[in-house]
Amino acid sequence: MSREFDAALADIVGARHFQVGDAIGERYRLDISRKYASNPVGVAKPGSIDEVSAIMRLAHAHGVPVTVVGGQSGTCGAAVPSDGGLALSLERMNEVEEVDLVSMTMTVGAGCILQVAQERAEEQGVFLPLDLGARGSATIGGVIGTNAGGNRVIRWGMMRDMVLGLEAVLADGTVVSSLGKMIKDNAGYAWKHLLIGSEGTLGIVTRAVMRLRPLPTNRQTALVGLSSFADAITVLRRLDVSLSGQLSSFELMWKDFYRLHSEAQLAQRPCPMPHDYPIYALVETMGGEEEGDAERFQRGLIRLIEEGLVADAVIGQSERERDGLWAVREELEPGFAPLRPFAAYDVSVAIADMPAYVDQARAAVLKKFPNAVVLFYGHAGDGNLHALCSVGRMDSGIQFALDDAIYGTLRPYGGSVSAEHGIGTTRAPWLGHSRSETELALMRTIKQALDPKGVLNPGKILGHAASAQKTADDVGGPVGSELPPVIV
Ligand code: LAC
Ligand code: ZN
Repeated sequence: MSREFDAALADIVGARHFQVGDAIGERYRLDISRKYASNPVGVAKPGSIDEVSAIMRLAHAHGVPVTVVGGQSGTCGAAVPSDGGLALSLERMNEVEEVDLVSMTMTVGAGCILQVAQERAEEQGVFLPLDLGARGSATIGGVIGTNAGGNRVIRWGMMRDMVLGLEAVLADGTVVSSLGKMIKDNAGYAWKHLLIGSEGTLGIVTRAVMRLRPLPTNRQTALVGLSSFADAITVLRRLDVSLSGQLSSFELMWKDFYRLHSEAQLAQRPCPMPHDYPIYALVETMGGEEEGDAERFQRGLIRLIEEGLVADAVIGQSERERDGLWAVREELEPGFAPLRPFAAYDVSVAIADMPAYVDQARAAVLKKFPNAVVLFYGHAGDGNLHALCSVGRMDSGIQFALDDAIYGTLRPYGGSVSAEHGIGTTRAPWLGHSRSETELALMRTIKQALDPKGVLNPGKILGHAASAQKTADDVGGPVGSELPPVIV
């Protein structure tokens, strides 16, 4: 960037809110995967939509790439700025501007941390249902940009189901705004859905109207041990009916995952249940009538135990116990840390295909790396599987071989290379495994129409122009081969 560009940027946001060189903090260069080193030329922290608009006008005129940086809990490089590009942080635009208790909406700035938004809703007696492990760092703009899912999707859907209105700045600085509070709105193209999940490649989300729900007054949580995946699915369907729609989470953990984390957490809490069931489910309901809800939950589980569908169950009796049960699923750092460096996946596959896919993917990884640790877990009720593969070291060749095993076995099932974390940089070469050539062409048309100069988070999702025009079949492998340097 030229000195004039720097000066113009500092002028827009104020010198205090624009850093360059060594003053750019690490969180504006890296995401949680720590796989990509990046050298942005600066980080700008606008305080208003007018400032965001002015920044985009400037960046567009100079052809400077802009990447919005949120909480950096993404795992596939989507919010890692381009070298020589600008990092844009909306951390100052973080206000919960309104909680409307009649329309049941929240209007919130994109820089607001998810947990802050959840707590502001709860203080007012209402509920923002989106929830995920990274709630304390992920921002509203980030969870919109990735169309985040998390652990309550089976009941309340993904981010796409919760965003009623959106305000955004387009590539050339144009502000588009539709901050209505209506659930139903069929007035023409739903442009907000183009931006949701677009990982900052089509526009910069600055503000949103979120749909709120009545605040449940209690939750009931149990860990159950199951003899097979088929039993797990029967249990999921049965509970959905017997709990009258109150089921809000159904998280599956395969045996190795459960053993690893329950053992790694022994210093904090006793292991809730033996390690020898093939599969475990964390089940949670949220309701509005505590005694009846607890009784119904218990009754439902007892019936499933009597029928032999549930092999073992532990019901949390207090908030502390319920949090303890969740810890096995959510406090992953102690168990995962010794496995670094690893490759993490969040694929999606039809539930009916899940057990066969798990077996094949595991076998494909072990064929290449016989000593690999391969763990499966996820939001199985949504068809969303997480996999973690660790072979004790990592470089771009190993990453490629693991990706090839996980995504190669997924392709015949018509699965998705990303259920919730998005494509970013990591999965861009594999997008052709989940999307046809005509779909990719349509995506490029949309990108070209909204960002003809390619200034919005270039290289993410569709890859760089040259590689994006090839499919996996054209090149006999994943699209392109220029995987960025792995620094783990
Ligand atoms: C989870 C993150 C990895 O579900 O999406 O734990
Ligand atoms: Zn997840």
